[in-house]
Amino acid sequence: QLSEKTIQTVKSTVPVLAEHGEAITTHFYQRMFADHPELKNIFNMTNQKAGRQPRALANAVYAAAQHIDNLEAILPTVDQIAEKHRSLNVKPEHYPIVGEYLLVAIKEVLGDAATDDIIEAWGEAYGAIADVFIQVEQEKYNKAKEQEGGWLGYRDFTVVKKVKESDVITSFYLEPKDGGIIPPFRPGQYITAQVSLPDSEYTQLRQYSLSDAPGKGYYRISVKREDGSEEQPDGVVSTFLHEQVNEGDILPITAPAGEFYLNEESTNPVVFISGGVGLTPMMSMLNRLVDQDSDRDVYFVHASQNGEVHAFKGDIAQFEEQASSVQSKVVYSDPHPSDADYDKKGHIDLEWLKAVVPYDAEFYFCGPEGFMRTVNAALNDWGVPEGQVHYEFFGPELSLQ
Ligand code: HEM
Repeated sequence: QLSEKTIQTVKSTVPVLAEHGEAITTHFYQRMFADHPELKNIFNMTNQKAGRQPRALANAVYAAAQHIDNLEAILPTVDQIAEKHRSLNVKPEHYPIVGEYLLVAIKEVLGDAATDDIIEAWGEAYGAIADVFIQVEQEKYNKAKEQEGGWLGYRDFTVVKKVKESDVITSFYLEPKDGGIIPPFRPGQYITAQVSLPDSEYTQLRQYSLSDAPGKGYYRISVKREDGSEEQPDGVVSTFLHEQVNEGDILPITAPAGEFYLNEESTNPVVFISGGVGLTPMMSMLNRLVDQDSDRDVYFVHASQNGEVHAFKGDIAQFEEQASSVQSKVVYSDPHPSDADYDKKGHIDLEWLKAVVPYDAEFYFCGPEGFMRTVNAALNDWGVPEGQVHYEFFGPELSLQ
């Protein structure tokens, strides 16, 4: 139980922290990685460089601090972060390290304004917040372990099949090396893959959505090769997977996790809206609905650049033929002259959406950031109730507001 004084001190410093929040967390990571380089095995160092992870953590810390006298209020937010932490194998013993460096960074950035009272209050508050995370995560670890075929931490999987889905997306079919069973998952969930690059002393962790339905004896991920540009280098992990990981190779992964999944209780029509490789969780959901002979109407709206980078074209066409309830809509921003089969040139907009999908549906969307903002704004303008809108970001959660 925190004292009234601690609560007041923490609450009154939230605005100051909000102002310096990102500087504090950026600083904190630099210090922490210098003293604890082993944590580079866990954090995504590309997200660090892009500043996305510091921002996500800063937002979570303010949110928690604002509710320090009623931490129950942050449980829904904690739940999603804890899913990711569980998937990354974050452990209770990591929390004091993060706490220590967070305090050092607060002190350094605030300078003279950081009195002993403030530092002490934040130390206590961090402890209380960390306890909530640790407890929620413990429950998730227990569940992952107790499930039939479930496991803790990393389990070696063998790549049993590698299939090119488009010029830039390749699927990897994974079966456990130990030959044991694997638990089912909810369509839309992801796994974390632990990749050891030949020229790096640290492991790289990446989350990939499972792209096929559950219950097939394998997990499938479909990875986009992130080709670089002038501003950005090639994605080291995706390039490695595409070029160096082949059938017979081993990929350690954690058990499926995530809160973005198909609501199988609903009987509403389903609208999937994906941009680029954002279609992978939707493929799992679509495969599931087809496997189950669902009589829900399904609209699979997919936006990509052109036919060459458009993955799973054949599968979707086959589903459309096989199940009269499935309709596919394709949007190409930059179609090639040879592309014939598409419904719209340009980008998704509300007027077009209204003409091709029903309002009274469950909406699922995933794609690059700009795409996410456009789709979210369109569904808001249309007045689709919040409870029917489901989405997932690639990488750290960012605000859509
Ligand atoms: C991701 C918050 C403690 C490791 C995140 C995210 C948030 C967050 C908001 C982004 C979630 C998303 O992607 O949707 C916090 C808070 C903590 C805490 C508030 C303390 C109370 C820790 C600890 C570790 C850790 C102790 C382990 C050393 C990570 C990693 C990611 C992550 C590896 C994935 C993002 C990346 O690698 O770039 N955390 N976290 N976190 N967290 Fe934490």
